[in-house]
Amino acid sequence: MSQSSLPETSRAARIIARCRELARISDVPGETTRLFLSPATRDAHNLLLGWMRDAGLETRVDDIGSVRGLRRAASAEAPTLLLFSHIDTVPNAGAFDGPLGVLLALAAIEELCTQSLPFHIELIAFSEEEGVRFGFPFLSSLAATGQLAPEDLQRKDSAGISVADALREFGLDPERIAASCPLPAGSFAALEVHIEQGPVLDAANEPLAIVEGIIGQSRLSFNFHGHANHAGTTPMSLRHDALAAAAQWITAVESYASARDPLVATVGRIEVLPGGGNVIPGDVMATLDLRHPDDRVRWEAVAALQTAAEQAGATRGVRVTSTLRSQQATVPMNRALTGHLERAAARTGHTARTMFSGAGHDAMILATHVPTTMLFVRSPGGLSHHPDEAVREADVEAALATVLEFVRTLPAA
Ligand code: GLV
Ligand code: MN
Ligand code: MN
Repeated sequence: MSQSSLPETSRAARIIARCRELARISDVPGETTRLFLSPATRDAHNLLLGWMRDAGLETRVDDIGSVRGLRRAASAEAPTLLLFSHIDTVPNAGAFDGPLGVLLALAAIEELCTQSLPFHIELIAFSEEEGVRFGFPFLSSLAATGQLAPEDLQRKDSAGISVADALREFGLDPERIAASCPLPAGSFAALEVHIEQGPVLDAANEPLAIVEGIIGQSRLSFNFHGHANHAGTTPMSLRHDALAAAAQWITAVESYASARDPLVATVGRIEVLPGGGNVIPGDVMATLDLRHPDDRVRWEAVAALQTAAEQAGATRGVRVTSTLRSQQATVPMNRALTGHLERAAARTGHTARTMFSGAGHDAMILATHVPTTMLFVRSPGGLSHHPDEAVREADVEAALATVLEFVRTLPAA
C-alpha cells in the first residue's frame, strides 16, 4: 500500500508532468530531439540533477554523460539495487521513451522517503540508448558494464566528430570512463521501467507487462558507390546510379522481412550525394536495422541482405560495401527477479502478462552483468518514436505501485 498522503493519481500525474517538462528541452524548437551530448542535453542534465538532489540523492554525471543519483543504505557494505532508463531521444521523439523509467524510479525513491532498506539504490539516466548520433546504441550502458571498446570512442557522427571528442567538448574525460562509469561492485539487481512501444497491451486493454526477454538486433550501414554525372546528358544505359541501386535494395529488404515474420527490417536513414536534382546520385549511405528473437535467423538475414545489396549494385555498375555497426544477441531477463516483479504486480492488483520486447533497451546490456528485469507500461495506440507517444495516468500509477512493492519486498542478495 502507498504511504503517500496524496491521492493516488497525483503521483502519476507528477511523473507525467516531469516527463513532459523534460521533453520541452530540445535541440530543435517545437519538437523533442535530444541526441547524445547535444547542447540541450546539458539543460536536461541540470533539470534532472535538481530533481534528484531535491529527493536527497548524491548526484554526479559520469564520464560517458550518464546522470547518476545514489540513495545510501545505513550500512556502507550493503549491495546496490539499480533503477534505470535513458534520457537521450530519437529525432522528433515523444516524451516517455526512456524518461518515464527514470522519472518513475525517482518518484519511487521519493515515496520511499526515509524508509530504511537493506540496500543502496542507484538511479541511472543513461546518456545514449538510441544510437542515433553515432549509429551505435547502448554506448553508456556498455561503458557502465565495461564493454565499451577503445575503438568505439573513435566512432564518428555525421559531422565527423568522434565519441571521444564529443565527450571532451561536453566537459567529460574519455580517459576516466573506466574509473567513473562502472556499475557499483555490489550491484545485485536491476529494474528498468519502460513504455511498451508497441500495440500488445493496448489491444488487450492491460496496463502492465513483465518482460521475459529482449529481442536481438543488428545495425549496419551500407554504402552504394556509383558515379555522379549529368542528369540531362547521360543515357539511362550508361548510368551508375547509386540511389536507383539503393532503392531496389530497400524494396528487397521489405519483401525479405515480410516473408519471414517475426523478422523486422528497417532502412531508417539514407544520405544521397551529391544531392542535386539534376545530378545522377553518385553515392548513397543507408542504414539497416534488423531484429529477430532467434539470433541465427538474424545472422542469415544480415548475409542475405548484404548479397541483395551487391546484386542491386551489380546490375548498375555500383559497388556496395557494408559495415556491421552493432549487434546484440537476444537476452533473457533474470528469472528469479522477473518472478519477484510479477508477484509484486499481482499483489498490487495487476496480473501482468509476460512478453518479449521488440525494442532494444539498456536492460539487455545490464542483463549480461547483473540480474535484471523490466516492467512495461501500455503505449496507447501502440505509438512510440513519435511525438504523440503517450501514457495513461492510471497505468503509470499501477507501475509505480508495482515498483514500490518490488523494492520494499526485495531481499538483499
Ligand atoms: C530503441 O528504442 C530501439 O529499440 O531502437
Ligand atoms: Mn527506450
Ligand atoms: Mn527508443
